[in-house]
Amino acid sequence: MNKNDTLLKTLFVGITLCLVCSIIISLTAVGLRDQQKLLKQKDQQSKILSSAGLLTNQKNIEELFMAIEERVINLDTGEYADSLDPKSFDGKNFESEDYSKDPLTSVQLSSDTDISSLKRRENFIKIYFYKENNNIKAVILPVRGLGLWGTLYGYLAIEPDLNTIIGLEYFSHKETPGLGAEVDNPRWKSKWRGKKIRSSSGEFKIEVIKGLVNLESPERKYQVDGLSGATITSRGVSNMLTFWLGELGYAKFLNKLKVEIENEEALNV
Ligand SMILES: Cc1cc2nc3c(=O)[nH]c(=O)nc-3n(C[C@H](O)[C@H](O)[C@H](O)COP(=O)(O)O)c2cc1C
Repeated sequence: MNKNDTLLKTLFVGITLCLVCSIIISLTAVGLRDQQKLLKQKDQQSKILSSAGLLTNQKNIEELFMAIEERVINLDTGEYADSLDPKSFDGKNFESEDYSKDPLTSVQLSSDTDISSLKRRENFIKIYFYKENNNIKAVILPVRGLGLWGTLYGYLAIEPDLNTIIGLEYFSHKETPGLGAEVDNPRWKSKWRGKKIRSSSGEFKIEVIKGLVNLESPERKYQVDGLSGATITSRGVSNMLTFWLGELGYAKFLNKLKVEIENEEALNV
């Protein structure tokens, strides 16, 4: 036996190799953290733009996103929370805890109101406007809720009438490719364009149905085709829209925004 082939030396080489590799991996992970954060932010910006139909190949995402105005709102009051700077607002408090988890900055949801399995709802949230010549052309609202395997996170863009949908885009979910993950399929996403959230009497109507929308039905403008083989994800999408566009979601803010938009329109006449 070669005198270098002792058990101790083999162990030493093995452990040293493990240590060196783990140090390299840790340093790489730490070094790439900022870049990962930046890429995640860019991806979210692209989804915000895409939900409002503003993503084009002509300009890069940073350039396009310059046209987006960010505001933080208070979901309890429906007012703008101007003391919170939207540029630095990332949905986290001073302890880097999500606003939605801190009892001081969120409300607990009861089992009958928590239709999207959120458990708590944050009081402050960042929303987005796309404006042209100072006039609102799109309002972009973050939405999230449980699908089959986990929470889907996305953005719903609506027209200034606050009732017509421009688009719905998800930036994170755990649904199955070919089934629930079809929420990312451009063909399915295109079905949202022009759909109405409420009837003319104000009744909440928008939903993802099971099966295909009957194009003869008067309800068609409030309905989107279900994802085939993915009824649970489809129901999750309906539930999250019902929650976020309801009283515990953006309803108070949207009611105030409607008055703001109508006042501005009256001034412009
Ligand atoms: C491996 C696997 C993955 C699935 N992934 C999803 C999914 O992402 N979303 C979903 O709603 N249903 C998914 N399902 C199907 C659900 O379990 C359930 O059967 C389905 O939502 C019922 O929809 P249907 O009535 O349209 O068939 C999956 C099933 C299997 C076996």
